[in-house]
Amino acid sequence: MKNSIFSHRSIRKFKSKGIGEATLRKIINAGIRASNTGNMQVYSIIVTQDPIIREQLWDQVHFKQNMVKQAPVHVTFCVDVNRFHKWCEISNTEISYDNFLWFINGSVDAVLASQNTTLEAENEGLGVCYLGTVTYNADKVIQILDLPKGVIPITAIVMGYPDEDPDLTDRLPYEGVVHMEKYQDYSLEAIKNIHKEKEESEFYKNIVAENNVPNLATVFTEKRYKKQDNIHMSNAFLTVLKDQGFFNQ
Ligand SMILES: Cc1cc2nc3c(=O)[nH]c(=O)nc-3n(C[C@H](O)[C@H](O)[C@H](O)COP(=O)(O)O)c2cc1C
Repeated sequence: MKNSIFSHRSIRKFKSKGIGEATLRKIINAGIRASNTGNMQVYSIIVTQDPIIREQLWDQVHFKQNMVKQAPVHVTFCVDVNRFHKWCEISNTEISYDNFLWFINGSVDAVLASQNTTLEAENEGLGVCYLGTVTYNADKVIQILDLPKGVIPITAIVMGYPDEDPDLTDRLPYEGVVHMEKYQDYSLEAIKNIHKEKEESEFYKNIVAENNVPNLATVFTEKRYKKQDNIHMSNAFLTVLKDQGFFNQ
Protein backbone atom coordinates (compact mmCIF):
# COMPACT_ATOMS: atom_id res chain seq x y z
CA MET A 1 0.00 0.00 0.00
CA LYS A 2 1.27 3.51 -0.83
CA ASN A 3 1.19 5.81 2.14
CA SER A 4 0.11 9.32 1.34
CA ILE A 5 -2.96 11.45 1.93
CA PHE A 6 -4.14 10.61 -1.58
CA SER A 7 -4.00 6.86 -1.02
CA HIS A 8 -5.79 6.83 2.32
CA ARG A 9 -8.38 4.13 2.83
CA SER A 10 -9.96 2.88 6.04
CA ILE A 11 -8.63 -0.50 7.14
CA ARG A 12 -11.03 -2.99 8.71
CA LYS A 13 -8.85 -6.13 8.78
CA PHE A 14 -5.68 -6.23 10.86
CA LYS A 15 -2.81 -8.62 11.47
CA SER A 16 -2.30 -9.64 15.08
CA LYS A 17 1.22 -8.11 15.10
CA GLY A 18 1.48 -5.31 17.69
CA ILE A 19 2.91 -1.84 17.12
CA GLY A 20 6.37 -1.29 18.61
CA GLU A 21 6.59 1.19 21.47
CA ALA A 22 8.88 3.66 19.67
CA THR A 23 6.69 3.66 16.55
CA LEU A 24 3.52 4.12 18.61
CA ARG A 25 5.07 7.04 20.51
CA LYS A 26 6.18 8.69 17.26
CA ILE A 27 2.68 8.34 15.80
CA ILE A 28 0.98 9.79 18.88
CA ASN A 29 3.57 12.58 19.00
CA ALA A 30 2.52 13.51 15.46
CA GLY A 31 -1.01 13.94 16.88
CA ILE A 32 0.31 16.17 19.64
CA ARG A 33 2.12 18.40 17.09
CA ALA A 34 -1.23 19.43 15.52
CA SER A 35 -2.42 23.02 15.83
CA ASN A 36 -4.64 23.57 18.84
CA THR A 37 -6.66 26.39 20.39
CA GLY A 38 -4.40 28.90 22.17
CA ASN A 39 -1.78 26.15 22.51
CA MET A 40 -3.74 25.12 25.62
CA GLN A 41 -4.16 21.54 24.37
CA VAL A 42 -7.65 21.10 25.78
CA TYR A 43 -7.70 17.44 24.77
CA SER A 44 -6.42 14.11 26.02
CA ILE A 45 -5.40 11.05 24.04
CA ILE A 46 -6.03 7.63 25.57
CA VAL A 47 -4.00 4.79 24.07
CA THR A 48 -5.55 1.43 24.96
CA GLN A 49 -3.71 -1.83 24.26
CA ASP A 50 -4.97 -3.98 27.16
CA PRO A 51 -7.04 -6.75 25.53
CA ILE A 52 -9.59 -6.74 28.37
CA ILE A 53 -10.34 -3.03 28.04
CA ARG A 54 -10.36 -3.29 24.23
CA GLU A 55 -12.86 -6.13 24.49
CA GLN A 56 -15.10 -3.98 26.73
CA LEU A 57 -14.95 -1.17 24.17
CA TRP A 58 -15.69 -3.60 21.34
CA ASP A 59 -18.64 -5.09 23.21
CA GLN A 60 -20.23 -2.09 24.92
CA VAL A 61 -19.30 0.83 22.66
CA HIS A 62 -18.50 -0.20 19.10
CA PHE A 63 -21.44 -2.48 18.27
CA LYS A 64 -18.99 -5.41 18.10
CA GLN A 65 -17.33 -4.21 14.90
CA ASN A 66 -14.72 -6.89 14.06
CA MET A 67 -11.80 -4.60 13.46
CA VAL A 68 -12.00 -3.25 17.01
CA LYS A 69 -11.23 -6.71 18.34
CA GLN A 70 -8.49 -7.37 15.78
CA ALA A 71 -6.53 -4.12 15.93
CA PRO A 72 -3.86 -4.11 18.66
CA VAL A 73 -4.29 -0.41 19.49
CA HIS A 74 -7.40 1.67 20.22
CA VAL A 75 -6.95 5.42 20.59
CA THR A 76 -9.62 7.69 22.05
CA PHE A 77 -9.38 11.45 21.47
CA CYS A 78 -11.20 13.47 24.12
CA VAL A 79 -12.10 17.06 24.77
CA ASP A 80 -10.41 17.75 28.12
CA VAL A 81 -10.85 20.91 30.18
CA ASN A 82 -10.26 18.95 33.42
CA ARG A 83 -6.48 19.35 33.24
CA PHE A 84 -6.69 23.06 32.38
CA HIS A 85 -9.23 23.69 35.18
CA LYS A 86 -6.94 22.05 37.72
CA TRP A 87 -4.07 24.24 36.55
CA CYS A 88 -6.28 27.34 36.93
CA GLU A 89 -7.29 26.20 40.42
CA ILE A 90 -3.75 25.80 41.70
CA SER A 91 -2.88 29.11 40.05
CA ASN A 92 -5.74 30.83 41.94
CA THR A 93 -7.37 32.09 38.75
CA GLU A 94 -10.94 31.98 37.50
CA ILE A 95 -12.23 29.00 35.51
CA SER A 96 -14.44 29.65 32.46
CA TYR A 97 -13.98 26.68 30.18
CA ASP A 98 -16.91 24.56 31.35
CA ASN A 99 -19.23 25.69 28.56
CA PHE A 100 -20.28 24.87 25.02
CA LEU A 101 -17.69 27.13 23.36
CA TRP A 102 -14.87 25.14 24.95
CA PHE A 103 -16.52 21.88 24.07
CA ILE A 104 -16.28 23.00 20.44
CA ASN A 105 -12.70 24.27 20.84
CA GLY A 106 -11.64 21.00 22.48
CA SER A 107 -13.45 18.99 19.80
CA VAL A 108 -11.58 20.76 17.01
CA ASP A 109 -8.28 20.21 18.86
CA ALA A 110 -9.04 16.53 19.46
CA VAL A 111 -9.99 15.91 15.83
CA LEU A 112 -6.90 17.69 14.48
CA ALA A 113 -4.79 15.51 16.79
CA SER A 114 -6.60 12.39 15.59
CA GLN A 115 -6.05 13.19 11.93
CA ASN A 116 -2.35 13.97 12.43
CA THR A 117 -2.08 10.65 14.27
CA THR A 118 -3.86 8.86 11.42
CA LEU A 119 -1.61 10.35 8.74
CA GLU A 120 1.56 9.48 10.63
CA ALA A 121 0.28 5.94 11.29
CA GLU A 122 -0.37 5.50 7.55
CA ASN A 123 3.06 6.95 6.84
CA GLU A 124 4.52 4.20 9.06
CA GLY A 125 2.72 1.53 7.00
CA LEU A 126 -0.11 1.04 9.49
CA GLY A 127 -3.83 1.04 8.77
CA VAL A 128 -6.46 3.01 10.64
CA CYS A 129 -10.23 3.11 10.94
CA TYR A 130 -12.19 5.85 12.69
CA LEU A 131 -15.02 4.80 15.00
CA GLY A 132 -18.10 7.03 15.10
CA THR A 133 -19.60 4.69 17.68
CA VAL A 134 -17.57 6.47 20.35
CA THR A 135 -19.98 9.41 20.32
CA TYR A 136 -23.06 7.17 20.06
CA ASN A 137 -22.08 5.46 23.30
CA ALA A 138 -20.06 8.21 24.97
CA ASP A 139 -21.53 7.34 28.40
CA LYS A 140 -20.05 3.81 28.15
CA VAL A 141 -16.65 5.15 27.04
CA ILE A 142 -16.68 7.46 30.08
CA GLN A 143 -17.36 4.47 32.34
CA ILE A 144 -14.84 2.10 30.76
CA LEU A 145 -11.99 4.62 30.48
CA ASP A 146 -12.67 6.37 33.83
CA LEU A 147 -13.15 9.82 32.27
CA PRO A 148 -13.72 12.50 34.94
CA LYS A 149 -15.92 15.61 34.62
CA GLY A 150 -14.61 17.97 31.96
CA VAL A 151 -13.60 15.09 29.67
CA ILE A 152 -15.69 13.82 26.73
CA PRO A 153 -14.67 11.33 24.04
CA ILE A 154 -15.04 12.92 20.63
CA THR A 155 -13.53 10.42 18.24
CA ALA A 156 -11.55 7.18 18.27
CA ILE A 157 -9.45 5.14 15.90
CA VAL A 158 -8.15 1.61 15.83
CA MET A 159 -4.78 0.99 14.26
CA GLY A 160 -2.51 -1.89 13.40
CA TYR A 161 -0.79 -3.60 10.48
CA PRO A 162 -3.29 -3.98 7.59
CA ASP A 163 -4.45 -7.41 6.52
CA GLU A 164 -6.27 -6.06 3.46
CA ASP A 165 -5.64 -3.57 0.67
CA PRO A 166 -9.06 -2.18 -0.23
CA ASP A 167 -9.79 0.08 -3.21
CA LEU A 168 -9.93 3.82 -2.77
CA THR A 169 -13.46 4.93 -1.96
CA ASP A 170 -15.24 7.49 -4.12
CA ARG A 171 -15.75 11.16 -3.29
CA LEU A 172 -18.25 13.67 -4.61
CA PRO A 173 -16.81 15.74 -7.49
CA TYR A 174 -14.59 18.71 -6.57
CA GLU A 175 -17.20 21.24 -7.77
CA GLY A 176 -19.80 19.48 -5.64
CA VAL A 177 -18.12 20.36 -2.37
CA VAL A 178 -15.93 23.39 -3.14
CA HIS A 179 -17.39 26.91 -3.43
CA MET A 180 -15.27 29.65 -4.95
CA GLU A 181 -15.25 32.93 -3.02
CA LYS A 182 -18.76 32.56 -1.51
CA TYR A 183 -21.28 29.78 -0.91
CA GLN A 184 -23.28 29.09 -4.10
CA ASP A 185 -26.47 27.38 -3.00
CA TYR A 186 -27.33 24.23 -4.94
CA SER A 187 -30.07 24.08 -7.57
CA LEU A 188 -31.96 20.79 -7.68
CA GLU A 189 -30.29 20.14 -11.04
CA ALA A 190 -26.86 20.63 -9.45
CA ILE A 191 -27.75 18.22 -6.64
CA LYS A 192 -28.69 15.60 -9.24
CA ASN A 193 -25.44 16.09 -11.15
CA ILE A 194 -23.26 15.99 -8.06
CA HIS A 195 -24.68 12.60 -7.05
CA LYS A 196 -25.03 11.17 -10.57
CA GLU A 197 -21.73 9.28 -10.70
CA LYS A 198 -22.32 7.75 -7.26
CA GLU A 199 -25.90 6.75 -8.03
CA GLU A 200 -24.98 5.23 -11.39
CA SER A 201 -22.02 3.17 -10.16
CA GLU A 202 -22.46 -0.59 -9.98
CA PHE A 203 -21.10 -0.54 -6.44
CA TYR A 204 -23.87 1.68 -5.09
CA LYS A 205 -26.56 0.15 -7.33
CA ASN A 206 -25.79 -3.18 -5.63
CA ILE A 207 -26.05 -1.57 -2.20
CA VAL A 208 -29.46 -0.10 -3.09
CA ALA A 209 -30.63 -3.53 -4.36
CA GLU A 210 -29.27 -5.39 -1.30
CA ASN A 211 -31.11 -3.00 0.99
CA ASN A 212 -34.29 -3.23 -1.04
CA VAL A 213 -34.88 0.54 -1.04
CA PRO A 214 -35.77 2.86 -3.95
CA ASN A 215 -32.55 4.92 -4.04
CA LEU A 216 -29.18 5.58 -2.42
CA ALA A 217 -30.28 8.46 -0.18
CA THR A 218 -32.79 6.07 1.40
CA VAL A 219 -30.00 3.63 2.28
CA PHE A 220 -28.75 6.36 4.60
CA THR A 221 -32.10 7.56 5.96
CA GLU A 222 -33.77 4.17 6.46
CA LYS A 223 -30.89 1.73 6.96
CA ARG A 224 -27.64 3.31 8.12
CA TYR A 225 -28.44 6.50 10.03
CA LYS A 226 -32.14 6.30 10.93
CA LYS A 227 -34.19 9.16 12.35
CA GLN A 228 -35.08 7.42 15.62
CA ASP A 229 -31.42 6.43 16.20
CA ASN A 230 -30.21 9.94 15.39
CA ILE A 231 -32.66 11.51 17.84
CA HIS A 232 -31.89 8.95 20.55
CA MET A 233 -28.10 9.28 20.24
CA SER A 234 -28.25 13.04 19.91
CA ASN A 235 -30.21 13.31 23.18
CA ALA A 236 -27.88 10.82 24.87
CA PHE A 237 -24.87 12.91 23.85
CA LEU A 238 -26.50 16.11 25.13
CA THR A 239 -26.99 14.35 28.49
CA VAL A 240 -23.30 13.41 28.50
CA LEU A 241 -22.37 17.04 27.79
CA LYS A 242 -24.48 18.13 30.74
CA ASP A 243 -23.22 15.38 33.08
CA GLN A 244 -19.59 16.10 32.21
CA GLY A 245 -20.13 19.75 33.12
CA PHE A 246 -20.17 21.60 29.79
CA PHE A 247 -23.44 23.49 30.25
CA ASN A 248 -22.38 25.89 32.99
CA GLN A 249 -23.18 29.02 30.99
C1 LIG B 1 -15.93 10.30 12.41
C2 LIG B 1 -15.87 9.00 11.62
C3 LIG B 1 -16.50 7.88 12.12
C4 LIG B 1 -16.41 6.66 11.45
N1 LIG B 1 -16.97 5.54 12.02
C5 LIG B 1 -16.81 4.34 11.41
C6 LIG B 1 -17.29 3.16 12.04
O1 LIG B 1 -17.83 3.18 13.15
N2 LIG B 1 -17.12 1.99 11.38
C7 LIG B 1 -16.49 1.92 10.16
O2 LIG B 1 -16.36 0.81 9.63
N3 LIG B 1 -16.01 3.01 9.55
C8 LIG B 1 -16.15 4.23 10.15
N4 LIG B 1 -15.62 5.36 9.57
C9 LIG B 1 -14.90 5.26 8.30
C10 LIG B 1 -15.73 5.82 7.14
O3 LIG B 1 -16.76 4.90 6.82
C11 LIG B 1 -14.78 6.04 5.94
O4 LIG B 1 -13.82 7.02 6.29
C12 LIG B 1 -15.54 6.49 4.69
O5 LIG B 1 -16.42 5.49 4.26
C13 LIG B 1 -14.57 6.83 3.55
O6 LIG B 1 -13.75 5.71 3.29
P1 LIG B 1 -12.15 5.80 3.37
O7 LIG B 1 -11.78 6.23 4.77
O8 LIG B 1 -11.66 4.41 3.07
O9 LIG B 1 -11.71 6.80 2.35
C14 LIG B 1 -15.71 6.59 10.21
C15 LIG B 1 -15.10 7.74 9.71
C16 LIG B 1 -15.15 8.93 10.41
C17 LIG B 1 -14.43 10.14 9.88
